[in-house]
Amino acid sequence: MASTESASAQRIEVEPLAQLDATALAMLQGLVADSHWNQVAADWALFHQAGTIQVVREKGRIVASGAVLPMGASEAGASGVSWISMILVTPAERARGLGRAVFGRCLEQVQASGRIPMLDATPAGEALYRQFGFEPQLRLTRWRREARAATQPVLSDLLPGLDTLVALDGQALGFERPRLLADLLARPSTLCVRTAQALALVRAGRTAHQIGPLLAADEAAAAAALNRAAASLDGAIYIDVPDPRPRMHAALEAAGFQPQRGFARMARVDRGQVPPAGQYALLHAIAGPEFA
Ligand SMILES: CC(C)(COP(=O)(O)OP(=O)(O)OC[C@H]1O[C@@H](n2cnc3c(N)ncnc32)[C@H](O)[C@@H]1OP(=O)(O)O)[C@@H](O)C(=O)NCCC(=O)NCCS
Repeated sequence: MASTESASAQRIEVEPLAQLDATALAMLQGLVADSHWNQVAADWALFHQAGTIQVVREKGRIVASGAVLPMGASEAGASGVSWISMILVTPAERARGLGRAVFGRCLEQVQASGRIPMLDATPAGEALYRQFGFEPQLRLTRWRREARAATQPVLSDLLPGLDTLVALDGQALGFERPRLLADLLARPSTLCVRTAQALALVRAGRTAHQIGPLLAADEAAAAAALNRAAASLDGAIYIDVPDPRPRMHAALEAAGFQPQRGFARMARVDRGQVPPAGQYALLHAIAGPEFA
């Protein structure tokens, strides 16, 4: 009988968000703040315009979210991927199956498109995604530096052209993401470090700057770019660095960063699918776990 059904036995309705209006945005940003994440309104706008935001509502309120962002080649046979992220459940409604339901819906959507589902998992998420057949491909560490006074002038390097950035970034990841990179380059807050050997973007987050992607020929060039960016910023900073990177780790510690938590980059590759062949040696910080 419906009246005696437990909450966990009830069907959980997951729906694509039709309109990203101010009310929906405030609710989504509430989920971000509840989990102390760093995303901003522009990130949700990008998911909505270039991908899909899936939500669970209760009495009109958004209590769980997920996002799917297609990236990489769209031609059949090429290694197109879809990035799944923003799997968030409001703290009061956790452990009721909402996370599993919203993630399952995102995964179904990606599988229907024939793309390879990939994501960067927090430790809490990794256990869930393993149950859906995802395997870790790469381990990363999130580093954080608290706010402090800048010791160098604000970055004034010219932003790279989109084509240059897409090509470099695509070489490192094994797939191209022009839509995302165009969006990041167009944000008024975006700054960059550009040297002969390295290129790093810096963007504003909800509570901290995010450095990434950081692409460099070698770790020494990456560490020099990191130092320049960090010295010019006075707010808190996040940077997500692949493991192992001993030189980067030493530079991060010297610049006042501390490791905060691990991430696992995970993929679910079905028979006949070819996973992207990135050159991870060129990738010294990712754009962020929500964006690859
Ligand atoms: C992770 C999160 C989305 C799970 O949502 P949820 O609605 O509580 O999860 P569900 O009730 O659907 O549980 C699904 C599975 O998640 C796993 N899980 C949930 N919370 C977990 C935790 N804190 N630690 C480890 N595993 C956890 C369990 O394996 C569970 O499987 P089980 O039912 O067999 O035990 C939620 O805790 C959350 O919003 N956390 C903060 C944000 C976050 O880390 N998101 C994941 C990003 S990759």
